[in-house]
Amino acid sequence: MNYKNFPMVPRVVFGRGSFNQLNEIITPKRLNTKAPFIFLVDDVFKGKAWLTSRIPLSYDDKLLYISSEEEPKTSQVDAIVEGIILSIKERPSGIIGVGGGTIMDLAKAVSIMLTNEGTASDYQGWDLVKNPAIYHVAVPTISGTGAEVSRTTVLTGPEKKLGINSDYTPFNQVILDPELTKDIPKNQWFYTGMDCYIHCIESLNGTYLNTFSQSYGEKALDLCKEVFVNGKLTAEESQDKLMMASWHGGMSIAYSQVGVAHAMSYGLSYLLGTKHGIGNCIVFNYLEEFYPEGVKLFKDMMKRHNIDLPKGICAHLDDEHYDTMIKVALSLEPLWENAIGKDWKKTITYDRLKALYQKM
Ligand SMILES: [Fe+2]
Repeated sequence: MNYKNFPMVPRVVFGRGSFNQLNEIITPKRLNTKAPFIFLVDDVFKGKAWLTSRIPLSYDDKLLYISSEEEPKTSQVDAIVEGIILSIKERPSGIIGVGGGTIMDLAKAVSIMLTNEGTASDYQGWDLVKNPAIYHVAVPTISGTGAEVSRTTVLTGPEKKLGINSDYTPFNQVILDPELTKDIPKNQWFYTGMDCYIHCIESLNGTYLNTFSQSYGEKALDLCKEVFVNGKLTAEESQDKLMMASWHGGMSIAYSQVGVAHAMSYGLSYLLGTKHGIGNCIVFNYLEEFYPEGVKLFKDMMKRHNIDLPKGICAHLDDEHYDTMIKVALSLEPLWENAIGKDWKKTITYDRLKALYQKM
């Protein structure tokens, strides 16, 4: 048995208003006055002075607004990197991502691609990155994905939707300021929060489970229940707890894996561009046969929060479309092995996945 030796985020700040400490945190990391910090900021914050006025720009620092309407792509990473290289004289001092999972994943990937040759799609997979990334910081503004702690950056490439999983991917610094999550639209709050809930269910019911993963997964699940089931928290308590649930859920899957919902949701997303949070919910809703208790509570939470999932999203698809989706889903072997076990190929067949997709 060879146990994984995995890197963790070495520095983290937690607290309401801690975003104000960004300047003092990054200043010592500035290499010189010509090596700027590049801020990748979700464009939903354009014109929102309560957030943007607190982004500390000096010297040649740049703020790039990025849309998170679509899942992050390898081509998008390449374009951002090229834009940075062409517009500045020296390698940047650091990349700071301010936003949700999409922006955080882009920040990780850009920081890797500034020191590694080729295109981002060359590095989709496990442990393909050769050189350390430049300094990178996450400031999450929505909770649930676990992107702030994970060792991956999930990108849609020309051939697959797959993460750049490497020891250089995790952030050097994370700033957890729950106050920044105050303006999220309710549906997005729910879908992204459910990403965390699904991480817990997939981790806790997986064959890879160990005490490390279990201890984080159980805590994250308890926090999710406090937020989405009990309904007795103040808005502030709920923001604080969901931010820590996301963290613990991410830690839980770091030492195990996700499962059926993520494998199938990657297929959906690759073909239809479905966003990760909602895609997971659409899939998870039909996974009673794999996660009976988890799906039961999920349906209960949907009811409590009056969430209506889109229906019939696969209704117009032809055989070729199903082929593509199922190929992507089945290619995620570690996810299936975690969910079902070493013999997963005996029970997880093309037709079984097709029947499930057809329900969605
Ligand atoms: Fe996820």
